Amino acid sequence: MLCLGIETSCDETAVALCRDGRPVLEKLASQTDVHTLFGGVVPELASREHLRRMGPLLRALFAQSGLSMADVDVVAVARGPGLLGSLLIGLATAKALALGAGKPLVGVNHLHAHLLAAVLGRDNVPYPALGLLVSGGHTQLVRLAGPLDLAVLGRTLDDAAGEAFDKAAKSLNLPYPGGVYIDVLGRGIEADHNLFPRPYLDNRNLDFSFSGLKTAVANHVAAHPELRAPVMPTQAGATDPTSWPMALRRVCAAVNFAIADTLRVKIERALAGPAKDAASLLAAGGVAANGRIRDMLADVAGRHRLPLFLPPKALCADNATMIATAGCRLAAAGLFHDLSLDAVPRGRKVPWDYRGAESTSGPASVDSRPEPQ
Ligand code: KG4
Ligand code: ZN
Repeated sequence: MLCLGIETSCDETAVALCRDGRPVLEKLASQTDVHTLFGGVVPELASREHLRRMGPLLRALFAQSGLSMADVDVVAVARGPGLLGSLLIGLATAKALALGAGKPLVGVNHLHAHLLAAVLGRDNVPYPALGLLVSGGHTQLVRLAGPLDLAVLGRTLDDAAGEAFDKAAKSLNLPYPGGVYIDVLGRGIEADHNLFPRPYLDNRNLDFSFSGLKTAVANHVAAHPELRAPVMPTQAGATDPTSWPMALRRVCAAVNFAIADTLRVKIERALAGPAKDAASLLAAGGVAANGRIRDMLADVAGRHRLPLFLPPKALCADNATMIATAGCRLAAAGLFHDLSLDAVPRGRKVPWDYRGAESTSGPASVDSRPEPQ
């Protein structure tokens, strides 16, 4: 089965082809250069960039793969959560291609696709699995009874881990998105475990709250303004951490520790509680590219004797390969949408409303509670 995947939920425009769940080719245009100027994603600019880049990306995908819409068996599209205007560009494109070529359409929950990127191409994953989803907008612990059967055990009540990274970076005058800078600059440095709080651990639940950490970093930098990067570096400037002041690098190491260790405590709590029966551990989303978090996950998995599944770093961030492979799995299970498929903006629940869903035991949603606004 050949699946075309389309991803436009935030600031990456991406199209990809996958055959039977294995990647064939992806064409991706990041808008980071456009949004960095503003220190965050500007939704209106994001929609316009998706519209501008979609046509050329699709033409390049088909030209370079030697395939055409006639070869495609199903069109998969990220339907949310995300920026409404951006999602609509992807949905309109997917519907037009599906209708024009007479192919079935399947809408994909962006968060579900992130998680499935961790097991991409793996047929031997033991379930149930405990999944950690850490992206720019979401932090969730999910129990996967199978690849299409998810239950959210805990999630962030305010800022996501990615937002905490990005806001810490902003306090330090590092560019947006700042997670990768904090990651690289903090590498190889002994972290001060007491510099920042590991937030929201003094409870018994599996939820997260990273807004206190964001404030703690902002307050620390306000009290020590000399820590701020004097000149906002270019992306290339972060590749040589040794060129940065040690005091700034120590702050980065402490942020990496505070976030990684907070995630660790809640993962261990899940493994001792509702995910006690987990037979594997997986993690996904942009923040899953973080070196300290990957090391922490390997350590937890090792101690609990669980196989660990992580996407390659390139598939942690937003991409269309994850949409296409998730689309393959959904279509193979007989799950599709019709042309009334609508976008689900961030903050709203993504329904499990596939045609054919009556016959599956799929979840009501990746998360059954209302999202924080
Ligand atoms: O999954 P993603 O690409 O987009 C969303 O769906 O939100 O995640 C983007 C987030 C940003 O907050 C970015 O700073 C963070 O992932 N990120 C990282 C790293 N690479 C990307 N955070 C920490 N360490 C990294 N290496
Ligand atoms: Zn994402």
